Amino acid sequence: MARILVTGGTGYIGSHTVVELINAGFDVLIVDNLSNSTSDSIDGIEKITGVRPPFEQIDCSDSEQMETALSKYPDICAVIHFAASKAVGESVEKPLLYYKNNLLSLITVLELMKKHEIRNIVFSSSCTVYGQPDVLPVSETAPIKPALSPYGNTKQINEEIIRDAAHADSNLKAILLRYFNPIGAHPSALIGELPNGVPQNLVPFITQTAAGIRKELRVFGNDYDTPDGSCIRDYINVVDLAKAHVVAVRRMLEDKSAEQVELFNLGTGRGLSVLELLNSFMKTTGVNVPYTIVGRREGDIEKVWANPEKANNVLGWKAEETVEDTLASAWRWQQHLMQ
Ligand code: NAD
Ligand code: WQD
Repeated sequence: MARILVTGGTGYIGSHTVVELINAGFDVLIVDNLSNSTSDSIDGIEKITGVRPPFEQIDCSDSEQMETALSKYPDICAVIHFAASKAVGESVEKPLLYYKNNLLSLITVLELMKKHEIRNIVFSSSCTVYGQPDVLPVSETAPIKPALSPYGNTKQINEEIIRDAAHADSNLKAILLRYFNPIGAHPSALIGELPNGVPQNLVPFITQTAAGIRKELRVFGNDYDTPDGSCIRDYINVVDLAKAHVVAVRRMLEDKSAEQVELFNLGTGRGLSVLELLNSFMKTTGVNVPYTIVGRREGDIEKVWANPEKANNVLGWKAEETVEDTLASAWRWQQHLMQ
């Protein structure tokens, strides 16, 4: 069976994707430097799938160590490149760290792929590249807007690096996946998101407030041009998102009609406001979440949700989980973390 190199595979989306790859019959090699995750997720993956995937604690931008790891696994046929620093606020404070990590990691991976004749890469991009879209729902043909943070800029540059590398090497195939807002956890609650310090993202902040770790949620703004005044996002279940990676890998390996570089939005197609999501969490879990409305958060987009039709039609992938089940999974994961 073919082996997939998963960089960042102990992280949030990576660990869920490893589970789905194993379930689909793929062998995996996880590479992660554990800068934003722990090896506990490998225990979770093993408990869920019955398989303990090999793991190399390596920085992806270290070509020597990556070379040694790749040499041990000559059966690797594709890479899913998750490894990146991802905190928007931190990227504003430490831009060089973000450019260094996110650009060097990808460049090193692409160089080694060429050397080892690995011809397929799936890349984790983000809806952040659209900024505030002029047309909603946003489709892949929408223009890229100037990045609002160094993090967002690294995603734009990474996409360009992949396109240029593919232009120069007709053997290289790539699928760029633009994720909307991934939330939730595996239904087993054995793997999930590990927020670093005070969560910046909405759902981990909600679950920590529900658990009493935070006093109250601050809702950033209720004066936006939306029905209830709070911002709108497209929240996508992380297992649904993980499954899209399996489909993308299969397409590159098996479907001769695939273009050399393809781009897909991964979202539900449905926008939910902050207040709608919060109320849905409280209703689903029966747990009260104290909150207060405060001013807008700098740099926030007012509203964005995906047109996922291309992924639905071309990949044959669709987000399936309800937001209620997804929020319930996030809550179970929070409770698991506190055991
Ligand atoms: P995460 O931080 O949980 O996972 C990233 C993993 O990469 C971590 O385990 C970290 O230790 C590892 N890593 C970072 N730099 C590395 C390096 N140089 N070498 C080896 N390992 C390294 O984040 P996530 O939410 O799972 O995100 C995965 C990918 O998806 C990232 O590229 C992120 O930018 C992208 N993305 C995430 C979201 C989101 O909201 N979570 C949205 C859009 C895109
Ligand atoms: C969602 C909504 C907040 C926290 C970020 C990145 C983006 C992508 C996904 C990687 C917004 C509101 C939040 C809180 C709140 N990541 N909120 N109180 O900003 O859509 O996207 O993560 O690529 O690049 O920018 O996600 O979860 O931070 O916020 O009211 O304590 O929740 O204002 O409207 P965001 P988020």
